[in-house]
Amino acid sequence: MWEEVPSSQQEQRLQELLRASGRLPRHVAIIMDGNGRWAQERGLPRVEGHRQGMRSVQEVVQVAVQLQIPYLTLYAFSMENWRRPQSEIAALMWLLRHYLQQELPRLQRHNIRLRAIGKLNALPRRVQNMLRQAIRQTEHNTGLTLTLALSYSGRWDIVRAVQMIAIDVRRGKLSPEDITEETFAGYLMTHELPEPDLLIRTSGEMRLSNFLLWESAYAEIYISERYWPDFRRCEFYRALVDYLRRERRFGMTSEQLGRTPNPQHDVTELHALVDAVASLSAL
Ligand code: FPP
Repeated sequence: MWEEVPSSQQEQRLQELLRASGRLPRHVAIIMDGNGRWAQERGLPRVEGHRQGMRSVQEVVQVAVQLQIPYLTLYAFSMENWRRPQSEIAALMWLLRHYLQQELPRLQRHNIRLRAIGKLNALPRRVQNMLRQAIRQTEHNTGLTLTLALSYSGRWDIVRAVQMIAIDVRRGKLSPEDITEETFAGYLMTHELPEPDLLIRTSGEMRLSNFLLWESAYAEIYISERYWPDFRRCEFYRALVDYLRRERRFGMTSEQLGRTPNPQHDVTELHALVDAVASLSAL
């Protein structure tokens, strides 16, 4: 539970410095990988990895709220995940329902707006209903936009956008010459979200796995060696501190951006604070 993770003085200082940097990502997207391996290495059923992964979701959401990061998108279930054993799919759907039920009051309390992207009508009816209800009840919240990618595939969304564009062209609502990158992005399910600035993947794998393929064109990628259930708030802080050191040029040169080449942002104090917070939480 969020309230069960009290912030130490060091953590409050770390959060202050991160916020004061003015350079935190607006949109963080996460491929939460490694739940199964986390469980198997402990001789536990895979579902236990997903259950622990839910705790990581809670911590990362909490930190995003505290740092006033406006958008967080989590890859919770890919379209390819439907190929998993039926028992694991059922357990994941149960966890999702449980998450929505348990977290809704907290989402409200923390002014979080819940959204979902993906082929949502493929989800079990009860999950769809609960999801729709949570989205409706939080739609006027103005804090963090938390987007769950469920039954999601980046290629599927691109093909879906192309189909809708073709329909609009056929109806005479759009002419082919007017199709720009912006028009195209407007047809994707992510059209309300800014492009991700930081894309995190856990468990050391270096793949996009069909996640936000169009949207991640300029995302900074951060790979954590930790399995998702071990990716708690300190690991999230490490990813954010790493991001602060990056220079984002979007194809331009440092000089064009009016900066010295490869500026070395000093993150020594931030690193020390993350280490201090990590050792305190290990106590
Ligand atoms: C990948 O690990 C993770 C998933 C397929 C599911 C992610 C789900 C959660 C974190 C829990 C519920 C989430 C929400 C938002 C309520 P994996 O099983 O592919 O791990 P492996 O690669 O080690 O097998």
